Amino acid sequence: EEGLHPSQYPWEHAKWNKTFDHQALRRGFQVYREVCASCHSLSRVPWRDFVGVMHTVDEMKAMAEENEYDTEPNDEGEIEKRPGKLSDYMPAPYKNDEAARAANNGALPPDLSLIVKARHGGCNYIFSLLTGYPDEPPAGASVQEGLNFNPYFPGTGIAMARVLFDGLVEYEDGTPATTSQMAKDVVEFLNWAAEPEMDERKKMGMKALALSAGLFAISVWVKRYKWAAIK
Ligand code: HEM
Repeated sequence: EEGLHPSQYPWEHAKWNKTFDHQALRRGFQVYREVCASCHSLSRVPWRDFVGVMHTVDEMKAMAEENEYDTEPNDEGEIEKRPGKLSDYMPAPYKNDEAARAANNGALPPDLSLIVKARHGGCNYIFSLLTGYPDEPPAGASVQEGLNFNPYFPGTGIAMARVLFDGLVEYEDGTPATTSQMAKDVVEFLNWAAEPEMDERKKMGMKALALSAGLFAISVWVKRYKWAAIK
């Protein structure tokens, strides 16, 4: 069963000549950290990827160090704990899928690294999902015990309850943290996580375009100049 078709939103970062809004990414990462990370992992993203995009090297080193990682086993096969470094990947909230399901009523919160690419509708779908929980399920809708009604979720019964509420986080840049603002920012952040190379690709595209336009202009000029005598 398909969910309600999400609206198309005018995502700035999705335009061919626009890059990610780095303030929005920074806010989105804050929402991820303070809200989503308690249930979801982002296992394909290392701490170092944030450097120069959302945070400075020192900020990221400090954030990585707040987390504990296992050392490689030593000669006796013992594993110890060490603070995180920039090359480590973002930690998962649960030890394994079994623990994740046990904490979520049997449902598995999916890893969010590639979710924007993996779900039909991408950014529009996830924004709609996060902002689309009605206060009450519509009259006549049947919702299974332990599930929440969301018209955008295929099947409409989702194990994740509404997580975003106005004022849930306090943005450092003073942006009012409305439900839709947080949803927009976290979706843009998750799009970055899935395609961190997008900005580079667009910048290269612009350079290629400028270069081809220049070469074309020269070729037009050369053609006119060379053929001028024959006209
Ligand atoms: C599923 C995003 C916070 C628990 C999902 C899905 C997305 C998502 C995109 C996949 C839906 C699908 O399969 O189409 C987010 C975001 C969050 C957030 C962006 C933060 C703003 C949380 C929190 C919890 C949670 C805090 C736990 C309290 C789950 C669970 C599922 C899920 C259990 C599986 C639902 C099912 O398959 O029925 N989430 N989530 N999520 N999320 Fe979250």
